Amino acid sequence: MTRPQLLIDTDPGVDDALAILMAYEHADVAGLSVAAGNVGLAHTVRNACVLVDLVKARTPVFAGCPSPLVRAPEEDAAFVHGRDGFGDVGFAAPASAAAAEQAALALLRLTRERPGELTLVALAPLTNLALALRLDPSLPERVARLVVMGGAVNGHGNTGTLPAEFNIGFDPEAAHVVFGAFPQFDLVDWELTLRHAFDEDEFDAWLAAGDHRADFYGRICQVARNTNRERGRRGVIAADALAMAVAIDPSLVLRSESRHVAVELDGRLTRGATVVDWTGRLARPANARVVLELDQPRFAAMVRRALGA
Ligand code: RIB
Ligand code: CA
Repeated sequence: MTRPQLLIDTDPGVDDALAILMAYEHADVAGLSVAAGNVGLAHTVRNACVLVDLVKARTPVFAGCPSPLVRAPEEDAAFVHGRDGFGDVGFAAPASAAAAEQAALALLRLTRERPGELTLVALAPLTNLALALRLDPSLPERVARLVVMGGAVNGHGNTGTLPAEFNIGFDPEAAHVVFGAFPQFDLVDWELTLRHAFDEDEFDAWLAAGDHRADFYGRICQVARNTNRERGRRGVIAADALAMAVAIDPSLVLRSESRHVAVELDGRLTRGATVVDWTGRLARPANARVVLELDQPRFAAMVRRALGA
């Protein structure tokens, strides 16, 4: 069976790093387009290059937009990922560097060169995808699948306003553009992430297995694990890894519902919320396949293999 062909938009970021390690273990990676989000663009681009070096790949890295489309973000996620996005471990500068091509243009070019072949995996605020769509609205026709990590489908968010999840809340206008342009995408949200945590001891056993990828991830994830523990989040969670599992093998999805999902742009208390028409009352097309349950043992096996355990 041919390996999935992935185009990944990312803001590495600790859970992005685990997702990208999974991508290299289980798929082929056509490119990494990088967004600002967890931390600033300079850090996220550097971190993407650190990951490419770590797995000795030759994947092109494309720097994206340094800020959201309209409003400045209220906060980044350095409190989870460290000021440098990789747990403030202090890795040496990467040998590889970003390409000169802007991320939005690279997304358009790569999908023109490989129409219908690439699964687009969105692990970051959707700024780059929105810019690409504004430049070329035909982009969705050339994308085999879009998988988005984002949102909180029942309003249990993690940043900014109470119902907002970070990737959507950081750039709600971008999410509005993307959700309105793609007739169909898979949505892996924050609430699903919390339901698919790993046991701490089991995860630590994977990290202790001795593979260089496990050593790397064990170093960068400590700040995030401590923060999540302080916030009462059970087990080891990795939102982007969950989305990557769905992108690599959609058969892991045990339960989903196709619904219309929109993004709140103006609410003082709700800006960035993903609003789901669960009962179909608006009679609008269902643009999102909301993933509601995954095969946890198979998800765990995917992650474990990506850590060489
Ligand atoms: O809410 C989780 C998402 O926000 C993940 O993509 C994480 O990397 C952060 O970007
Ligand atoms: Ca991310």
